[in-house]
Amino acid sequence: MSQTHARITASVYTSHVPAIGAAVDLGKTGTDYWAPLFKGYEFSKQWMKEHTPDVIFLVYNDHATAFSLDLTPTFAIGCAEEFQPADEGWGPRPVPMVIGHPKLAAHIAQSVIQQDFDLAVAHKMDVDHGLTVPLTLMCGQPKAWPCPVIPFAVNVVQYPVPSGRRCFELGRAIRRAIESYDEPLNVQIWGTGGMSHQLQGPRAGLINKEFDNAFMDQLIANPAAQAEVPHVNYVREAGSEGIELVMWLIARGALADVAGGPAPRVAHRFYHVPGSNTAIGHLILEEQ
Ligand code: DHB
Ligand code: FE
Repeated sequence: MSQTHARITASVYTSHVPAIGAAVDLGKTGTDYWAPLFKGYEFSKQWMKEHTPDVIFLVYNDHATAFSLDLTPTFAIGCAEEFQPADEGWGPRPVPMVIGHPKLAAHIAQSVIQQDFDLAVAHKMDVDHGLTVPLTLMCGQPKAWPCPVIPFAVNVVQYPVPSGRRCFELGRAIRRAIESYDEPLNVQIWGTGGMSHQLQGPRAGLINKEFDNAFMDQLIANPAAQAEVPHVNYVREAGSEGIELVMWLIARGALADVAGGPAPRVAHRFYHVPGSNTAIGHLILEEQ
């Protein structure tokens, strides 16, 4: 039977450290420091070429760039035609404009809000390293990004932040929304941020390899259990910015097995320390 509706084909998870973007933009990826990190994404760039979707639903967090700390939505979906790479203080990154998919985004907004999740709807939203660095890691330096992207911003910067459980349930709602869209689009859902890191205070520089690897194990095999971990555990064990990992649960919650289907296949797994002040984690899960 031919496909009539949109479907999720795979999910991608990756850290989004700004220094990674700078290393690419300044031509430093081959240095002793950076080469081992970028090696972990060689498979991914090839995989992305072979599995280019029609749309990427990209879960990330804004770092007080598009949203000032005066007004911070917990969840914001980008419904615009396009999104400008943000100026984070040293000029916008030299990367392509991000082209949106307003029709699918508006459908997802309608469906997810009707499933009782409060989303802010953004018609103008500059996108910072949280979104552009994952695109760079997965796609390299193309003239244009390979497909439209729906930016989905999550507040993990200003307390209170959403729980892992809520993020996971939101992922389930996003799956239902995508599957009810009546065009045969192949959609990838990406979860970005993490892994363990703390950028300020006495614990700045904190890395917790055990936590990170256990998180990835559990995200793959038993995401419902991972979703029960309270946010304070991430902060205690993975550092104040380790809370970014709850965004991976949104992408994971959108996969088939959570809705009673088959488990995803682990196409790629990578972990590397250090990447700037953080531990770099990366997974590609394919739907079966
Ligand atoms: C840094 C910033 C981030 O947003 C992040 O997720 C990791 C690292 C940084 O400034 O080094
Ligand atoms: Fe971040």
